[in-house]
Amino acid sequence: MGKYGRHFGIVAVLVIIGAVIMNFLLKDILYKPAQASAQAVGVDRLFNLHLTLVAFFFSLIVVFMLYSVFVFRARDDDDSDGDFIHGHSALEITWTVVPLVIVIWLGFMGMGVLNDMTAAQPDEMVVDVVGRQWSWAFEYPDTGIQSTEMVVPKDKPILLKMTSPDVIHSFYVPEFRIKQDLVPGHVTEVRFTATATGVFPVRCAELCGTSHAYMLADIRVVEPSEYDAWVAEKLGGGGEDLAAKGAEIAQLQGCTGCHSLDGSRLVGPSWKGLFGHEVELEDGSTVTADEEYLRSSIVDPNAQIVATYPPSVMPATYGDTLSADDIEALIAYIKSLE
Ligand code: CUA
Repeated sequence: MGKYGRHFGIVAVLVIIGAVIMNFLLKDILYKPAQASAQAVGVDRLFNLHLTLVAFFFSLIVVFMLYSVFVFRARDDDDSDGDFIHGHSALEITWTVVPLVIVIWLGFMGMGVLNDMTAAQPDEMVVDVVGRQWSWAFEYPDTGIQSTEMVVPKDKPILLKMTSPDVIHSFYVPEFRIKQDLVPGHVTEVRFTATATGVFPVRCAELCGTSHAYMLADIRVVEPSEYDAWVAEKLGGGGEDLAAKGAEIAQLQGCTGCHSLDGSRLVGPSWKGLFGHEVELEDGSTVTADEEYLRSSIVDPNAQIVATYPPSVMPATYGDTLSADDIEALIAYIKSLE
C-alpha cells in the first residue's frame, strides 16, 4: 500500500457510504409486494441478503473506478508514460476466491429455502388446480367443491396439485413468493401457508397465447370459521338458478377465454346478444341462434362455422365432458346475456 495508503483510506470510507446508500435505495424504493405467506419469509431474507451484497459490490467497483478516473487523471502538461504494472498474484487470488465462496454459500442458502418451501407439512389441505387457455379452475378433492376463486383458511398448509390440458402455464402469486409451472400431461405441486387474510391475485407467468395477460384468478384467504361457512354454502347451494350455474360452468370450463360477454371479438363469437339473433355462417347462409343452434354449437362446434371465424378451433369434446344438465345451464346463461 505504502504511498497510496491515504487513497485507500478515503476509498474505503466512500465505499461504505456508497454501499449504505445503495442498500437503502434497493430495499426501500424497489417495490416488493406484501408478504403474505410463511414461504415468503425465507425468500425475502435471501432476497434482502442478495440486495445487500449487490449494493456493496456495486459501490466497491463504482467508487474505485470514479476515484481513479478523477484523482489519478493525467494533468494537462503531463505527457509521460504511466507506471508499469506487472500484476498482483495475491490480489487476483483474493478476488477469485472470495466471490467463489460467496456464490457457493448463497447456493447452499437457496437450497435450504427451497427445501423448506417444498417440504410436506402435517395436516395439508389439497386443492386441485387446472390452468387452461385462459382461465383457472380449482377443485377441492375432500368435498368435491369446484370454484373459480380459491378460498383457503389462514395459517392452513395448502398443497396445490396442478395440471394443464393445453399448453404450459405458470401459477404465480407474488404476495406468497411462489411460482410453479403447469405442464400438460404432468401433475406439478406447490405449497403455501397464507399468513394474512385478504384477496391475492394469481397471475399466469408463462406466455400462453392471446389472452395470457388476462389469465387471472383470486385467492381469498379467510379466517377458518369463514372458510367453514363458505364450504357449507357451496355444498348446500341447491337453490341457485340455471343461468347462474351456467355462468359458473362457463368460467370453470374456460369458455369465456374465447367467447366474450361484452360483444368484443375474441377467438370465437361473443355471447352477448347472441340468443334469438340471426347468425351468418361461412357458407353465406344464416341461421337463428335458438336453443338447438346453441346446443349443436357446443356439442359439434365444427358443423356450423360462423362467418369470419376460423374453423376447428373449439374442441369438439364438450359433448363427452359436459353433462346434459351442464349444457342446459350454459344455454340458459347465454340466453340471459342480452
Ligand atoms: Cu396461461 Cu399465460
